[in-house]
Amino acid sequence: MELRHLRYFVAVAEERNFTRAAERLHIAQPPLSRQIQQLEESLGVLLFERNSRPLKLTDTGRFFYTHALQLLAQTTELEAMMRRVGKIERAMSIGFVGSTLYGMLPRIIRRFRTEHAEIELTLHEMSTMDQIKALKEGRIDVGFGRIRHEDPAVRRVVLREERMIVALPVGHPLSIGRKMLALPDLLEDTLIIFPKAPRPSFADQVLAAFHDRALRPGRIHEVRELQIALGLVAMGEGISVVPSSVYGLKRDDVTYVELDDAKLVSPIIMSMRTLDESEDLRAMLDMIYRLYEEIGMEYIPPAQE
Ligand code: BEZ
Repeated sequence: MELRHLRYFVAVAEERNFTRAAERLHIAQPPLSRQIQQLEESLGVLLFERNSRPLKLTDTGRFFYTHALQLLAQTTELEAMMRRVGKIERAMSIGFVGSTLYGMLPRIIRRFRTEHAEIELTLHEMSTMDQIKALKEGRIDVGFGRIRHEDPAVRRVVLREERMIVALPVGHPLSIGRKMLALPDLLEDTLIIFPKAPRPSFADQVLAAFHDRALRPGRIHEVRELQIALGLVAMGEGISVVPSSVYGLKRDDVTYVELDDAKLVSPIIMSMRTLDESEDLRAMLDMIYRLYEEIGMEYIPPAQE
């Protein structure tokens, strides 16, 4: 059995039709049918139910499909890592969620570029869930996101937990004479959450904060991204719960007030391929901790290896 057989089998299993699978693979249908037949013969099992339309996997076929997918994912990962290891020019591709731009990301990238001019960095804005996929496909080497997602192919380091704060339109009654607010104070206003898609996202962390305390926001308005949420807050459309680094985004028409609960946090997570032991990644992680120390930022110390 060769990798080619696995690719062909997965295409047929997913398309449930030989013609569509052959088109997807850019090959003719007769050789595809022959390859699947050869695969069944070499394994001594039936992978598809005979004469089913659309094609159905047998129980054995379903078992084989799950394992074939895992093997193919591992080969893609291995290819990505070999491209990195074998590169003469050093390069690192970084995925990040938009909200990290208001935190330490720009400073981290500037410092890394100064300390490691020989490593070419490219940056791509993408959701945490897209980062996981992009890591596995070798399109990025490291991701900075906010969602704890379990995937054996991806290793994550929670760098720090960022407090959540409330953004209110200037002059809003809740902003007058109040140094702190509590989540129950926010139920009367429309809650503007972001990003609307893909989910899960920071929007779900905010909703979970309410639901975990048996609170239901009165009205919810979902928007694409943080800047839109702040624009709507400025217009008086509602209020928004945002990561505290947004303080740095000074606007005359928006006021920020802290929340009284230290458990209202959103993590900043660095994700890498589990098997990627590259020195460049280690250098980036060490530099992030050094920077946190330098500016006295609270962070989660790394586990001792
Ligand atoms: C931070 O704000 O701590 C951070 C943001 C992006 C990457 C790493 C750290």
